[in-house]
Parts: sequence; C-alpha cells; structure tokens
Amino acid sequence: MIKSRIIVGLSALMFMWSYSVLPASAEEKKVFVPVEFTSAYLADGSKFEMGKEIWFDQCTHCHGYKAYPGKAPKLKPKRYKPSFVYKRVTKGFRKMPAWDEVYDKDERMAVVTYIMHKDFSP
Ligand code: HEC
Repeated sequence: MIKSRIIVGLSALMFMWSYSVLPASAEEKKVFVPVEFTSAYLADGSKFEMGKEIWFDQCTHCHGYKAYPGKAPKLKPKRYKPSFVYKRVTKGFRKMPAWDEVYDKDERMAVVTYIMHKDFSP
C-alpha cells in the first residue's frame, strides 16, 4: 500500500515537473504569429461562408447593423489589410476582445476573408 502511494506521489511530481521544464509552444505563450493571406485564400467561397457565420454569431453584437450605435466602430475594410484585421481578431485591442481562445487560426482567417470580401455586409 505504502509503496503504491509513493509511486502515485512520484508520478504526480514527474507530471508537474514535465510541465515546468518543457518549452511552451507559441500558442501557449500567446505570441502573435502572423499569417499569409494569398489571393486564392481570400477568394475561397468556403472560407467566406465560414467567416460569415462567425461574423453573425459573434461580431454583429458590437459591430454589425444590429449593434447599439457607438458600441464598436463601423468596420471600413477598404482601409484595412487582411493582416491588420487578423491581428485585431486574434489579439483584440482595448475594448475589442481577443478571439484566439474562441476560434482557431482557420476560423479567424475565415472571418477576415468575410470582412475583406466585396460582399461583406455588416
Ligand atoms: C464586445 C464588443 C465587440 C465584439 C463582440 C467584437 N468587437 Fe471588434 N471591436 C470592438 C471595439 C470596441 C473596437 C475598437 C477598439 C479600439 O480601436 O479601441 C473593435 C475593433 C475591431 C477592429 C479594428 C477596427 C479599426 O478600424 O481599427 C476589427 C477589424 C474588429 N473589431 C473585428 C471584429 C470581429 C471580426 C469580431 C468577431 C469575431 C469582433 N470584432 C467582435 C468591439 C467588439
């Protein structure tokens, strides 16, 4: 009995130790990793649809036509580069929430695709 308790205790220690010494990945350390938006990606209709869904699920509460005026700025995609929108969506800025824990990279890229598309309709 005593012996098995020691083993349990030791493995718990090993487990905690492995957490403290293993290098954290970029995702865990919350380092912003820029991505590349090719024109092929931005023209992908499936990304547009995926991004549109995310936009109407989450972003319209603050940005969209149904948002309370003044809650968040009206987006002006003509003035943006996809990389800027991706960074704001990923890391947030002041009252703009960060979405990197809610949406994975592909989902965040998809919402950028929707915003940058000529058929974007907030
Ligand atoms: C809780 C409200 C809120 C939600 C939800 C929200 N935003 Fe924002 N967003 C803001 C605010 C406020 C700002 C302005 C931040 C600033 O510049 O001070 C902003 C800024 C931005 C900007 C930069 C605009 C500019 O001209 O500088 C982008 C792009 C953006 N949001 C995209 C999104 C997307 C995409 C979503 C959905 C995934 C989203 N936001 C959800 C509040 C929100």
